[in-house]
Amino acid sequence: MDGYDRSCGRMTIALVIRALLLLTVCSATAIAQTPPGNDPGSQKLFNMEMGPNRSIFRPSLDPNRTANGLALTPPMGWNSWNKFGCNIDEKTIRAVADAMVSTGMRDAGYQYVVIDDCWQGRRDADGNILADPVKFPSGIKALADYIHSKGLKFGIYSDAGSKTCGGRLGSQGHEYQDALTYARWGVDYLKYDWCFTGTRNSEEAYALMSDALRATGRDIVFSICNWGVNRPTMTDKSMPWDWGLKIGNQWRTTEDIFDAWAGRKGTSLGMVNIVDLTEPLYGYAGPGHWNDPDMLEIGNGGMSTTEYRGQFSLWAMMAAPLIAGNDIATMDDDTRKILTNREIIAVDQDGMGVVGRRVRNDGNLEIWARPLADGSRAVVLFNRSEKPADITAFWPEVGYPASMALEVRDLWKHTSLGSRTQNFTANVPAHGVVMVRLSQ
Ligand code: GLA
Repeated sequence: MDGYDRSCGRMTIALVIRALLLLTVCSATAIAQTPPGNDPGSQKLFNMEMGPNRSIFRPSLDPNRTANGLALTPPMGWNSWNKFGCNIDEKTIRAVADAMVSTGMRDAGYQYVVIDDCWQGRRDADGNILADPVKFPSGIKALADYIHSKGLKFGIYSDAGSKTCGGRLGSQGHEYQDALTYARWGVDYLKYDWCFTGTRNSEEAYALMSDALRATGRDIVFSICNWGVNRPTMTDKSMPWDWGLKIGNQWRTTEDIFDAWAGRKGTSLGMVNIVDLTEPLYGYAGPGHWNDPDMLEIGNGGMSTTEYRGQFSLWAMMAAPLIAGNDIATMDDDTRKILTNREIIAVDQDGMGVVGRRVRNDGNLEIWARPLADGSRAVVLFNRSEKPADITAFWPEVGYPASMALEVRDLWKHTSLGSRTQNFTANVPAHGVVMVRLSQ
């Protein structure tokens, strides 16, 4: 700053134009002299914000950016938040890992055991994040090792702001350091939230952590959790599906789910409200980058078994991450059967990764269709009304010529219904679905 003061002090009023020019140079020099932090993350952010292209730089448009190549099908796993909130500890998480194996969840395809908010303690003198010593006395590395020993993968949670939504320490200013800590612990999946972010730009904030994870050299699925909303208080109006393609592997499409068929509780939304906000986004998702309509509530008690079957079917049609949110160590048989329905999981995990959508909406009665890699199609008849109803799906609306003979397989009853042409009709329970797979 001394150089700036001295050279500017030499300006004279007579040389107005020259002075203005000089002032511009001086200001730029003053800004450029603001030192970035020492870690590579803040160095990169500094270059992004202060470099020659700063006005046009968008991390998602960087021609050198590549996706991380992970999550070519939607991630499947379990997360602590919906059932346990902040009430978590290592005993609970270990019991869940055990149950992932004993209930058949792992063998059905569920991989990630994810600790959500509230695992964090303080940072040490060097700024390294530590686990809450009361909840996780053996430390996170030991827990990750245990989960890996079960043939599962391990996920953790942080936040792009100074604090997490639950008020624990966030990763802002510690991105590269935290990513390295996670990699050392054996983290395979990071859910990254958006509380206490002030005026941060979301695209840059998520790109920074995405780069930090890549720099560790470990494969870490990156789950973007900035909800896809524009709250009146938010200055950053961009949506994650506009920029998330090469930054993360999934992005939340809405605010939090709560365990109800429909409605709003604070900022949280019922199941069908989330379906209606997510369905129109089908074109944004695909292998490696998925729409995330939030975690499953199946087994948490706020909806009927019929409604929970609906959540599972519709999440599979939307190619959503299947992240169970119940206590799988104590779940009943109905819940287990829904979560481990392999025919529906196969739809969710279809390798072509084309997202299903609503092809007809007759008020409360809907038809959904999703094309699958082998040429077959998943079809859901969805009845939102309060009474059972007959619903008919016609072949042309789900993508086949009317005259084509198609095998119809019921994915909830696990039975084949024979060959049909033209259409298929089923009686669908109130708030329920019938889900079939049509194939030649
Ligand atoms: C936000 C997220 C939730 C959960 C909580 C934790 O609300 O959207 O999924 O992670 O924070 O505090």
